[in-house]
Amino acid sequence: MKKPVVKVAVTGAAGQIGYSLLFRIASGEVFGQDTPVQLNLLELPAAIKSAEGTAMEIDDCGFPTLAGINISESAENAFDGIHWALFVGSKPRGPGMERNDLIRDNGPIFVAQGKALNRADRGVQIVVVGNPCNTNALIAQHNCRDIPATQFSAMTMLDENRAKAQLAKKAGVNVGDINIGIWGNHSSTMYPDFETGTIAGKKILDVIKDRAWLEGDFMKTVQQRGAAIIAARGKSSAASAASACIDHVKNLMHKTPDGKWFSCAVPSDGNSYGVPAGLLFSFPCRSQGNGKWEIVKGLPVSDYSRKKIDETTKELLAEREVVKDLLIK
Ligand code: NAD
Ligand code: LMR
Repeated sequence: MKKPVVKVAVTGAAGQIGYSLLFRIASGEVFGQDTPVQLNLLELPAAIKSAEGTAMEIDDCGFPTLAGINISESAENAFDGIHWALFVGSKPRGPGMERNDLIRDNGPIFVAQGKALNRADRGVQIVVVGNPCNTNALIAQHNCRDIPATQFSAMTMLDENRAKAQLAKKAGVNVGDINIGIWGNHSSTMYPDFETGTIAGKKILDVIKDRAWLEGDFMKTVQQRGAAIIAARGKSSAASAASACIDHVKNLMHKTPDGKWFSCAVPSDGNSYGVPAGLLFSFPCRSQGNGKWEIVKGLPVSDYSRKKIDETTKELLAEREVVKDLLIK
């Protein structure tokens, strides 16, 4: 191994997403075959034994890239010197719930974990998966004095991947041909932007001429996919969520090809598309491949898109209001 060790903390390591995510990180798929990876697993005391079982299995895979596994119930220990923090640990929703019904249960987790990030490497990138992920990321960011806000993000790649899968089926193309961004909240108000998206370089609307489908079934399927999976499996998405988390990290680590973007919820700079500064909002983003993101500027916003973006902004502002006692100014 030629490169320095990358230290990655994963919270909720004994959960369903953890079980799909950890093996892929340890395998070298994310950081490369020349980069050793140290996994720091954070769990609640009651789930430490289960995390130990997962760690035994990771060892048993014999990944040459695995530098070691630490398991802890202390966020301060788990975050010591880390370069990446993948915040998964939190309650999932059940049938009939919206993700933001979890806000008062899960929000406080991100107060304590945000504070404990003062133990991390200054360049740490924090990715929040636990729901409601945009607002949980906002809470973690507000409670962390030491790390710039731009190093916090929340995951909307699962929504993008869902949108791509639906469009690929409809157009009879490969998912790799599709470029589409998700705006706003990881919730049923998210907006998969079929107006600026492309299929093999052509506007989606020029390839799929059925606008009623795009505004109707397509949008609804993407917005409600999490609930549909819960209804079918009895549990929320796990392997696809882990895969999206891997995509999220890779998107930040590799230069985005020209003319493409990826979806990532990031603190609004206040100068983009009328989204209030500081709100953790999913934008079409690009990366130079340095672990950082930039919001794609200058995309056209029609009256239809404006309405969709405003709707999801309104929901995020309302969520922020509900957790205002958890935010440090
Ligand atoms: P799970 O219940 O299987 O696992 C959650 C794990 O987190 C459990 O092992 C639990 O002990 C642990 N945990 C709870 N509180 C913790 C804390 N304070 N510190 C450390 N660990 C803690 O749930 P899951 O299916 O793995 O889902 C985890 C979260 O991810 C849920 O909130 C779910 O809604 C969310 N999720 C988000 C997306 C997305 O696209 N953003 C997709 C799927 C799931
Ligand atoms: C998803 O989108 O599958 C996750 O956010 C889980 C959920 O509650 O929908």
